[in-house]
Amino acid sequence: MRFPADVPVLSDGAVTLRAAVAEDAEGVYQQCIDPGMQQFTTVPVPYTRQDAADFVARRAEKWGDDSDWGFAIEAEGGVGPTRFGGSISIRPGAPGIGEIAFGAHPGVRGKGVMTRAVALICDWAFEEKGLRRIEWQCNAGNLASWRVVWRNGFTFEGSARSLLPQRGELLDGWRGALLATDSREPKTRWLAPVRLTGERVALREVVADDEQRYLESSNDPTSLRWLGTIPGLPRDEAAFATRFRDRGLAASLGQHVGWTVADRYDDRYLGSIDMFGFSSIDHASAEVGYRMHPDARGKGLLAEGLRLVVRHAFASDREGGLGLQRLSLGAGDGNVASQAVARAVGFVETGRDRRCYLLDDGSVVDLVRFDLLR
Ligand SMILES: CC(C)(COP(=O)(O)OP(=O)(O)OC[C@H]1O[C@@H](n2cnc3c(N)ncnc32)[C@H](O)[C@@H]1OP(=O)(O)O)[C@@H](O)C(=O)NCCC(=O)NCCS
Repeated sequence: MRFPADVPVLSDGAVTLRAAVAEDAEGVYQQCIDPGMQQFTTVPVPYTRQDAADFVARRAEKWGDDSDWGFAIEAEGGVGPTRFGGSISIRPGAPGIGEIAFGAHPGVRGKGVMTRAVALICDWAFEEKGLRRIEWQCNAGNLASWRVVWRNGFTFEGSARSLLPQRGELLDGWRGALLATDSREPKTRWLAPVRLTGERVALREVVADDEQRYLESSNDPTSLRWLGTIPGLPRDEAAFATRFRDRGLAASLGQHVGWTVADRYDDRYLGSIDMFGFSSIDHASAEVGYRMHPDARGKGLLAEGLRLVVRHAFASDREGGLGLQRLSLGAGDGNVASQAVARAVGFVETGRDRRCYLLDDGSVVDLVRFDLLR
């Protein structure tokens, strides 16, 4: 093939994909010294101007031997005379399958440029290259990358441990794919822990600084007694780091949304409220769970936070809420404080699941069930 003449130009009017040219190298350099690029891709660190020139030069070779269909992205906010806004490519693999990769220049991020670029290259690869499946993978925790392909209709296909080589390490990864026959609409409801503010507490997303008090609250004897056998509740720094890294994933899949209950005035971690078990039967119910730091118990702070969550859950989509009709919760038989909070907020005891709740000391108790209708 002749480069660049035979590389197609793909455009939707606002974003254009075209062959990379030598004048893009300065933009490539600026993009690749960005910390986000270094964290989430395999670019060399440190990155030099020579690396950028080599990258641009290799684009032609790869088109030549059909090993990587790489485009430069041109968009408003792009740098230099070539308006370079990033790179995107599809690498063909087994027949009918390709893998997408992309990176945006910091100057164009957050403006929908990459979302459009992914749409353009996928349309082209399905229509002109006959692909039937386009795969995507990213380092676990790269929510911006997931969001771009989620918007384009990709289905999340799982997390995998030690999947991606990066500078001598193997990092956990997230994977997804788009089939030629898929709609280009998001396949899940992306839930967000929107900030909810009360008189004494504010509910917000978990942050790295929550670690110490979060772990104190999951390791205190009362929490251990009632929550000690619940799988996945972080009890050490490594588990907290993984939970923190993955905090947005379950929410993006419409499975879980979690808040830190923080002190409204000094933002100190006071506890956690989680919503999960979104029903696939009525699409309008979910379960809640909670726990408080020992020094924040007995002051009505959890009840205040839970009321905010209930109001948010039952508010309509239009009002910025979740549009649910029913919330449920379970508390171990004997967990008087937890049941008192449920009742204070208006939850009604509906029955019990007999002998299903394993406690930390090996005993098994009933789970007392509550629910609250809109
Ligand atoms: C991933 C990347 C290409 C996205 O580029 P972009 O130009 O910002 O993409 P877009 O503006 O089209 O869309 C980004 C979306 O992610 C959202 N987003 C950004 N950071 C986010 C985060 N930390 N958590 C959740 N969403 C996030 C944006 O709000 C936007 O959502 P919207 O569609 O609702 O507006 C860019 O961040 C980048 O180059 N990162 C470094 C390289 C990289 O990670 N490449 C992918 C490797 S797999």
